[in-house]
Amino acid sequence: MKNKLTMLGGLTVDVFLRDYWQKKPLLIRQAFPQFKGLLDPQQLIVLACEEDVQARLVTQTRGKFDLLHSPFEPSDFDNFGKSKWTVLVQGVNHHLPEAAELLKHFSFIPHARLDDLMVSYAPKGGGVGPHFDPYDVFLLQGTGHRHWQISTQADRTLIEGAPLRILKNFRIEQEWILEPGDMLYLPPQCAHNGIAEDNCMTYSIGFRTPAYQELAEQFLVYLQDRITVNGLYADPELKTQSHPSEISTAMLDQVADAIKKVRWDKQDIANFLGCYLSEPKPHIFFESPGDGLNPTKFKQQLQKNGVVLSLTSQMLCHDGWIFINGEALQPNPSDYPLLRGLADERVLTDIKNISPALIATLYQWYLDGYISLD
Ligand code: SIN
Ligand code: CO
Repeated sequence: MKNKLTMLGGLTVDVFLRDYWQKKPLLIRQAFPQFKGLLDPQQLIVLACEEDVQARLVTQTRGKFDLLHSPFEPSDFDNFGKSKWTVLVQGVNHHLPEAAELLKHFSFIPHARLDDLMVSYAPKGGGVGPHFDPYDVFLLQGTGHRHWQISTQADRTLIEGAPLRILKNFRIEQEWILEPGDMLYLPPQCAHNGIAEDNCMTYSIGFRTPAYQELAEQFLVYLQDRITVNGLYADPELKTQSHPSEISTAMLDQVADAIKKVRWDKQDIANFLGCYLSEPKPHIFFESPGDGLNPTKFKQQLQKNGVVLSLTSQMLCHDGWIFINGEALQPNPSDYPLLRGLADERVLTDIKNISPALIATLYQWYLDGYISLD
């Protein structure tokens, strides 16, 4: 990608990926020049109190941090006395269409790498303390100002017994005050501390870096429903053994041969990854249409206006396969480009040459709340 982007401080995507992504921090003044945020502190607190939202409340009293997790009541935000505090709300893109639109600016990173948009609010002095995250993040400043301090230090020792992961020996290497529209990119493990200068809202576009251990364990879970190993243990040549309690080498060899028959290929890994990475987080749910249209009306509306992915839907694709909210589907090859377009853009308007099978699939997704009519 050769275009120089304002949001990358005049770098092209290729240069950003080559020189900064996963490598080193980048401060971008006025990455989003008119950006003033998408919601105000009160609206964020209302969102933090909704039952299907994951939020955290961090308070700091005389330098000691405390952490509370949602669900919250509005009264939880009434009186902080002399404490500094901040509220952090995950997955705002699942609730606010403007937040989902904001994420589209970051589509130069594959959707499979994206986690979510977290929004925080803190009055003066609030923050979560010096820490590092295991993932890449773009920290976009909304309203107010935040003092960011960062360090590429190797010392990752944490304060023992603290309810949050706070670095014991944070050594500031660089610091800046970010204004609305400024953005700081941090690669994984880069230590950082953000302190609100005034009433401050920060938008964190976070990515995911799944641990290989988790991927391997989940792949085995995926595989257990799909493997077939035929046959039963048999020992027509059984010989006597001096210790009946001993598992014989013959038995071990036979079972080892049977287990070697468990096979998987790249397609299994692709299907597993598509399902795993598009799986909704546990608190996410899908709303079926209240006044669901019948199939004929749905088809008319579909052909007139197209469909959009619901804010909570996650859709990925690979080589003829489509993955939506943890489910895999192999559509007709002629429908694949349409569905890939829906996964790329979260909207499908050009509905020419659509097969009856795909209309039926889209109708089911509509009833499940995965998509809605545009
Ligand atoms: C914040 O928005 O206060 C914290 C974001 C972070 O440091 O990861
Ligand atoms: Co962080």
